[in-house]
Amino acid sequence: MKTHTLLMPLDMHLHLRDGVMLENVAPLSTFTFSGALVMPNLVPPVETLADVRAYKGRILAAAPNDFFEPYMTLFYKNYDKAFLESVADDILAIKLYPAGITTNSEGGVSSFDIEEMRPTLQAMSDLGIPLCVHGETDGFVMDREAEFMNIYELLATSFPELKIVMEHITTKEAVAMLDKFENLYATITVHHLLITLDDVVGGMMQPHLFCKPIAKRPEDLDALLSVALEAHPKVMFGSDSAPHPQHKKESCGCAAGVFTAPIALQLLCEIFDQFGKLSNLQAFVSDNAQNIYGICPEFKEVILEQRAFVVPDNYNGVVPMYAGKAIGWALQDVE
Ligand code: DOR
Ligand code: ZN
Repeated sequence: MKTHTLLMPLDMHLHLRDGVMLENVAPLSTFTFSGALVMPNLVPPVETLADVRAYKGRILAAAPNDFFEPYMTLFYKNYDKAFLESVADDILAIKLYPAGITTNSEGGVSSFDIEEMRPTLQAMSDLGIPLCVHGETDGFVMDREAEFMNIYELLATSFPELKIVMEHITTKEAVAMLDKFENLYATITVHHLLITLDDVVGGMMQPHLFCKPIAKRPEDLDALLSVALEAHPKVMFGSDSAPHPQHKKESCGCAAGVFTAPIALQLLCEIFDQFGKLSNLQAFVSDNAQNIYGICPEFKEVILEQRAFVVPDNYNGVVPMYAGKAIGWALQDVE
């Protein structure tokens, strides 16, 4: 049987939520990943040192037996330098949301006034705290990410020493930015390597494939695949696995988010294998992130095997991508 081993997989964009949902989903990531960059869009958001420490404690308590590092983030506000100094050792990055653009982002940034943001962004640059960005405008839904490229350019040129991560990129425009600006990096989800808008709404509407940013066109999918499969050194895997209870997805007013955490590595093996690029997967799921963020995760070895695996219908009330469907790779062992 064909197998593939991954060392220290990292998920550099993960929603773990809180409370019962955290207890439900955390073990599904901590089992197979060595660490994850944990998103701060709780209600209320993670915005103080006490919030960061308490939330990290709850994450570790939700999966006490796994070696797993929750790399913590703060929800972007125009923080002052003294505060950033006090929190720098407890976080890996700060996540910026445009106000109201996605789930629990109401307290985000409502205008990209660089002069208003300068003290915070300059302090982050000085302290070496990367800025992770949900890059969408409030324009037409298919154009939101492409329209945001002006803001990425402004940020990248105004703060040339600041590491800026374009989160969950979905367009050829975002891919092109990687080679234009030295300080721009990106995460890519597994679902955006598999689907286009056609899969979401081209036939019967698929609520479990609905997310922000929405999946785009075939040429965008090709552009994402081109950098992921080559493990371009500025791209990293970030699942954006975003669990919502089944009734919030299968309802009038479907919540945005695709839940992939328990099947992400299996799907990545399938994709990279289909393109004959399995040997590049290690860089995409771990090595690039280690280099970009300067992190050194706990040892973990994940062995996957090529065999049909039927994705469970749900995980305690959360429906995963491809629920009930057979995928081509499965977990064999984790050490
Ligand atoms: O689809 C999404 N769901 N996109 C995001 O940016 C947030 C996420 C969530 O938190 O549910
Ligand atoms: Zn997200």
